[in-house]
Amino acid sequence: LELQGLNFNLTEEHLAVQEAARDFAQTELLPGVIERDNEAKFPAEQVRKMGELGFLGMMVSPEYGGGGMDTVSYVLAMEEISKVDASASVIMSVNNSLVCWGLEAFGTEEQKQKYLVPLATGERIGAFCLSEPEAGSDATSQHTTAEDKGDYYLLNGTKNWITNGNSSGTCLVIAQTDVAKKHRGINCLIVEKGTPGFTVGKKEDKMGIRSSDTHSLMFSDVKVPKENRIGDDGFGFKFAMSTLNGGRIGIAAQALGIASGAYELALKYAQERKAFGRQIFDHQAIQFKLAEMATKIEAARLLVFKAARLKDEHKDYVQAAAMAKLYASEVAMWVTTEAVQVHGGYGYVKEFHVERLMRDAKITQIYEGTSEIQKLVIARELIR
Ligand code: CAA
Ligand code: FAD
Repeated sequence: LELQGLNFNLTEEHLAVQEAARDFAQTELLPGVIERDNEAKFPAEQVRKMGELGFLGMMVSPEYGGGGMDTVSYVLAMEEISKVDASASVIMSVNNSLVCWGLEAFGTEEQKQKYLVPLATGERIGAFCLSEPEAGSDATSQHTTAEDKGDYYLLNGTKNWITNGNSSGTCLVIAQTDVAKKHRGINCLIVEKGTPGFTVGKKEDKMGIRSSDTHSLMFSDVKVPKENRIGDDGFGFKFAMSTLNGGRIGIAAQALGIASGAYELALKYAQERKAFGRQIFDHQAIQFKLAEMATKIEAARLLVFKAARLKDEHKDYVQAAAMAKLYASEVAMWVTTEAVQVHGGYGYVKEFHVERLMRDAKITQIYEGTSEIQKLVIARELIR
């Protein structure tokens, strides 16, 4: 299940990134991953190290403190980290592909110097705040308002389900300025923690990715200077959608990693466990499960790398990203469920990791656009 044999033109640099991510996952993330999941404990120390190693601003230009790498490198690193700890990888994904990417692509030079540099180096963590209690899939129906007050915006409302909600220092907040203009009256504002009127709500007690911190965020008469708006007036929704196109490649890679992690554990276990006098791998029912897992994972990998390559080549990747996320997330759910089955009763307990991967897999079908929303995006592209 490696890509070297294929004509993906993986360079020495790509392989070095993949190896560095694999090493980091094995040495820094694997020890303690079960405890962090049990205790829903944010991996603060591990995230700090990810910043030091350059995993938090991988695609950001070196000019702004980033690694200047391509999307393929990012996907390779996301896969390796997600094999072991999908909580750490969602923290990484939001920072890289939503916050840093959005700021670099659409921010002003001043915004990049002030906000992107500390985000790319991991000195600060970012959050991307689109969803609300009443607006998830239906993202244009924003209730959070950013009233234009001349030289500042007055921000009011609640954002829900925000990854890095508590740990972030810099938040990109989507809000409605002009209701009459519908989605073209939405803005994206850079809001810093500590701004008066900005509070962090309760932490969600989740099924999976339990050590990532998901919070609601509340804004009550928060004054945000005009220079903190990203792009022209009314660009906020387009900003969110454009950013999510790339974000979906990151989540697709996360799903791919969760699936490969579970598959690798199942393959190993099947060769160790004996039943009826032979390895369970020698029972065809188990062999066929592993064959099907490997095939689905390989198909998901091709879609993920296709989307990443298209993005790197500056070609249209909207549909490819949606397809990669839709398929890889379904593969992750299926493979992890089967990996638990291959482990029998041992699969059902925490020590063997696969039950966590199964719980973690589920979120990849929900966030950054549910599977239903990916189908909607794909279908619209079919007739565009
Ligand atoms: N790329 C670029 N622009 C897009 C786009 C895309 N993929 N999808 C829509 N747009 C643009 C459209 O072109 C349109 O703009 P114009 O009118 O100026 O041309 C505008 O957005 C509105 O589009 P629609 O008319 O199609 O709006 P809609 O309401 O019918 O559907 C939607 C929009 C595709 C369903 C969208 O609301 C959506 O993607 N929803 C899912 C939201 C989502 O993914 N949330 C994730 C939150 S972040 C997160 O989850 C992070 C995490 O967990 C880690
Ligand atoms: P709903 O939109 O209410 O959907 C409910 C069901 O209806 C789904 O099955 C959906 O697919 C289906 N549905 C809705 N509309 C349609 C339609 N038109 N056609 C067919 N089916 C439809 N958001 C952020 O902004 N930032 C974050 O950092 C972030 N992190 C998250 C982390 C976690 C752990 C979770 C759980 C969520 C996170 N989200 C974040 C929010 C996430 O993006 C939304 O939960 C997701 O987009 C779905 O929205 P919803 O929960 O309101 O579900």
